[in-house]
Amino acid sequence: MSFNVNVLPSGRSFSANEGEPLLAAAIRQGIGLPYGCKDGACGSCKCKMLEGQVTHGAHQLKALSAEEEAAGFILTCCGVAHSDVVLESRQVTDESAFPIRKMPVRVTSLVRATPDVMVVRLQLPASDTMKYHAGQYVEFLLRDGDRRSYSMANAPYTQLETPGIELHIRHMPGGKFTDHVFAAMKEKEIQRVEGPYGSFFLREDSAKPIVMVASGTGFAPLKAIIEHMQFKHIVRPAVLYWGGRRPIDLYMTDWIEARVAEMPNLRYVPVVSDALPEDGWRGRTGFVHQAVLEDFSDLSGHQVYTCGAPIVVESAQRDFTELAGLPTEEFFADAFTTEADKALKT
Ligand SMILES: Cc1cc2nc3c(=O)[nH]c(=O)nc-3n(C[C@H](O)[C@H](O)[C@H](O)COP(=O)(O)OP(=O)(O)OC[C@H]3O[C@@H](n4cnc5c(N)ncnc54)[C@H](O)[C@@H]3O)c2cc1C
Ligand code: FES
Repeated sequence: MSFNVNVLPSGRSFSANEGEPLLAAAIRQGIGLPYGCKDGACGSCKCKMLEGQVTHGAHQLKALSAEEEAAGFILTCCGVAHSDVVLESRQVTDESAFPIRKMPVRVTSLVRATPDVMVVRLQLPASDTMKYHAGQYVEFLLRDGDRRSYSMANAPYTQLETPGIELHIRHMPGGKFTDHVFAAMKEKEIQRVEGPYGSFFLREDSAKPIVMVASGTGFAPLKAIIEHMQFKHIVRPAVLYWGGRRPIDLYMTDWIEARVAEMPNLRYVPVVSDALPEDGWRGRTGFVHQAVLEDFSDLSGHQVYTCGAPIVVESAQRDFTELAGLPTEEFFADAFTTEADKALKT
């Protein structure tokens, strides 16, 4: 048995099998519903159900509270239909979905950008290229069946100059995959990845000025988006706020400054939260999303793209919409949820 799911206002529809999460059904049929963790932890897939019956599997209350559920909101990643359903999701795009492929990849270089950030380059078989939107991510398929997500840090067109994809991976001590990356991964190692995934990419049908907010390695997909903007000559005003604990965490400052020199529409604001006296930091301090609010009391005419630590994404979404008038459908994000975040599910 399957149910019809209609998404307004785009009018796109897809079918969901009995017991199949709505998001999995949408991805299978190339419908661009927004999502992040795919696991009930981040809230990126939350949308309003206008008609129908949906029940949820385990999820975190911060992703969907009881009040939100009572008000008709659902999480598509862990919601299954029990009738035909009508959803409201203004972020659904007509953007073509690229085919999701599983492929072996070879590690071609490992460069430590800081003691805890590794820039990893992967080459596809026979110098194949991957089709994706700048901002999307791939999943590593681990031997025990687990998966780990990493955002492409290079725009797709760069594969024509240098084949392969670039990832920025932060070490999480005790983490299953990143312990391997920092302790044992070697050049020429073969891994398996699947992708592209994700709804975090530039909406090119808008002319609104762009505010980008990165925390830590959340810079990676924004780097890809900046490369894409430069390649496509997109001259919408854009400002990148990049937050780290210490200046060393902003590991590609030279790269950004070179882009700012080439792109008159791009500005860069580095923000450091825990500088030590020996850092000699004279720039902005505090939380990165608060620096945005200090500069933009009114975000009602902007689009915001935020990536990185879940707490930064959540704070940005809440404060930008509640305090600065950002329309909810103009906030795009990937929260880098980990197993620790997912373990908090109810
Ligand atoms: C869409 C998306 C894109 C992402 N992109 C990037 C990226 O570009 N760069 C990047 O650096 N990261 C990114 N991430 C995060 C990344 O996918 C991993 O979650 C992260 O690298 C940690 O993986 P790991 O296997 O090393 O650690 P995990 O095994 O996930 O563990 C993470 C931490 O939690 C602890 N832990 C593990 N299990 C539990 C548990 N059950 N209870 C409590 N604590 C636990 C571990 O000790 C460790 O400290 C992204 C995540 C998402 C969802
Ligand atoms: S994608 Fe559904 S809660 Fe994260």
